[in-house]
Amino acid sequence: MAVLEVLHFPDARLRKKALPVANIDSSVKELAEHMIETMYAENGIGLAATQVNVQKRVVVMDLSITKSEPVVMVNPEVLTTSGLEQMQEGCLSVPDVYETVERAEKIKFHYLTLENKLIEQDAEGLLAVCVQHEIDHLNGKLFIDYLSPLKRNRIAKKLEKQEKLESQAL
Ligand code: NI
Repeated sequence: MAVLEVLHFPDARLRKKALPVANIDSSVKELAEHMIETMYAENGIGLAATQVNVQKRVVVMDLSITKSEPVVMVNPEVLTTSGLEQMQEGCLSVPDVYETVERAEKIKFHYLTLENKLIEQDAEGLLAVCVQHEIDHLNGKLFIDYLSPLKRNRIAKKLEKQEKLESQAL
C-alpha cells in the first residue's frame, strides 16, 4: 500500500514515452496496486504510470460510482476509431483545470489484464474518452496539448505560481 507522487504539468517527465510491458511480473502487479491506491487517494477516475514517473505502459481506471471496480490495463492500444465527440476533461497532473477536448466518439481497444489475458472491448462515452486520455499519457501527451498554445501557457503559469505558493506555505 502506497500513495505515489503524481507529477504535475509542466514537469518534463510527463513527456517521457512509456515502454511496453514484456512480462507481467510481481513488480508490475505492485505498481498497479500502488497506482490504484494513488488514484483513489487523489479522487481520480484514471491514472497512467507516466504520471507517477514510471515509464511502463500501465493504466488504472475506475469509472464506477462506488469506486469499487478498478480496472488495470497493461499495454492498452486503440485498434479502431469512429466519429468525433467533445467532452470536458480534467487530469490529476493538471490540477483544477477543466477544458473541452475533441476525441474519437467510439473506439475498439485492447489490453492485457494482470493475469496476462487479452481483452478486446468496444467503448463510447466516458470510457472511450478515458482510454484515449490515458494512452495519450503513455505517449507523453496531455489533454491540454489539444488547446491553443496561448491557453496552455496560461495554464502552465497558473500552475507554477500555485506550486510556488504551496511550497512556501510549508
Ligand atoms: Ni490525465
